Amino acid sequence: MVQQDVELKRGLRDVYFESTQSSYVIGDIGRLIYRGYDIHDLAAQATFEEVVFLMMKGHLPTSAELDEFDSALRREREIPQEVMEVIERVKDGHPMDVLRTAVSALAAFEPAVGDISHEATLRKGMKITAQTPTIVAAHHRIRTGQPIVEPDPSLSHAANFLYMLLGKQPDDETSRLMDKDLIVHLDHGSNASSFAARVTASTLADVHGAVVTGISTLKGPLHGGAAEGVMKMALEIGDEANVESYLEGKRSRKERIMGFGHAVYRAEDPRARHLREGSRLLAEKEGDPKWFQILSKVEEQMRPYAERGICVNVDFWAGSVYYLLGIPEDLFISIFAVARVPGYVVQILEQQDKNILIRPQIRYDGPMDMEFVPIGQRG
Ligand code: CMC
Repeated sequence: MVQQDVELKRGLRDVYFESTQSSYVIGDIGRLIYRGYDIHDLAAQATFEEVVFLMMKGHLPTSAELDEFDSALRREREIPQEVMEVIERVKDGHPMDVLRTAVSALAAFEPAVGDISHEATLRKGMKITAQTPTIVAAHHRIRTGQPIVEPDPSLSHAANFLYMLLGKQPDDETSRLMDKDLIVHLDHGSNASSFAARVTASTLADVHGAVVTGISTLKGPLHGGAAEGVMKMALEIGDEANVESYLEGKRSRKERIMGFGHAVYRAEDPRARHLREGSRLLAEKEGDPKWFQILSKVEEQMRPYAERGICVNVDFWAGSVYYLLGIPEDLFISIFAVARVPGYVVQILEQQDKNILIRPQIRYDGPMDMEFVPIGQRG
């Protein structure tokens, strides 16, 4: 019997499968809350380390708690030599493929890999959080023939990441901008990659496996890959004067504009504000306003779409920030991953703490009662 009468919720839209205390995306009014705190307050006043503590431990740290947590993260930045060799062997792959492979390889050097107790998952999750920037940066240095830059324990998570990647210490303004970027990307409700990580965790697989699932899912252009697409678009447009005709061409071919629209937001993505401002400041500082001007014009021209709930999202401005920092486009998703990995850890912990195997149904629409013909008689 074909299951015609079963109602489908394709893409699981509007399906609530679990409850969470980590983040809340209020799509119709464009708000994002992390454990009760508005993302705007956290982006303006907290550091990434402080927000990771908040998300992983459930409350804002005292100064002493933050010092201890931050020191633990700084101690865990190095990766085993063997994993560095794996990166070397796969260096020609896309940075997200290399990151996925390296995080997977880290599991082989983790003695407590299979321990899925809350304490062990938190400890290993902090370690993966600390190691992810090292992997991304080391891979980029290796593939471009530059010497690897060792982690500097005197620098914050964001500043150290930029230092290892670009080979020079960023100024305070730049590291603060990266800090903000990491904060706003950290967690986002039941986004596709965190959901995927939860599915893996729900089988009682370990945190390394679940984080690898998250990273694999983040790579797609409908999720983490949009920032790369936005900067490609800005480069294709090339000049403010071409914006209108470029968008008209896209519209007539019914192509999507990267950096617009969101599965949940029907108003402006609240994360975009911080990166728009960062992009504007950076453009001013670098004396290179071209990309900011092109993207501002695209945003202006896309205003009619807002009536249909297709508004600017976080990736629209993230790409120009990274570009102005001198980061190549194929690394944009990896930066998203550096921010989102602790978000996966938070959701994996929640999943494990009250686990239920995530196993939805799928409606069968295929044929029935086919007669099996043995291979020798099939012609
Ligand atoms: N440009 C033009 N039209 C769009 C866009 C866009 N960026 N996004 C949605 N639409 C249209 C779409 O063509 C469809 O039109 P119609 O009803 O006439 O067929 C309608 O809006 C609904 O589209 P949908 O795919 O059903 O809507 P969704 O809410 O599932 O889409 C999305 C969410 C993110 C997949 C989509 O907006 C998109 O493809 N955007 C571009 C990629 C992008 O910027 N992704 C980054 C998301 S933010 C980072 C993150 O949190 O992951």
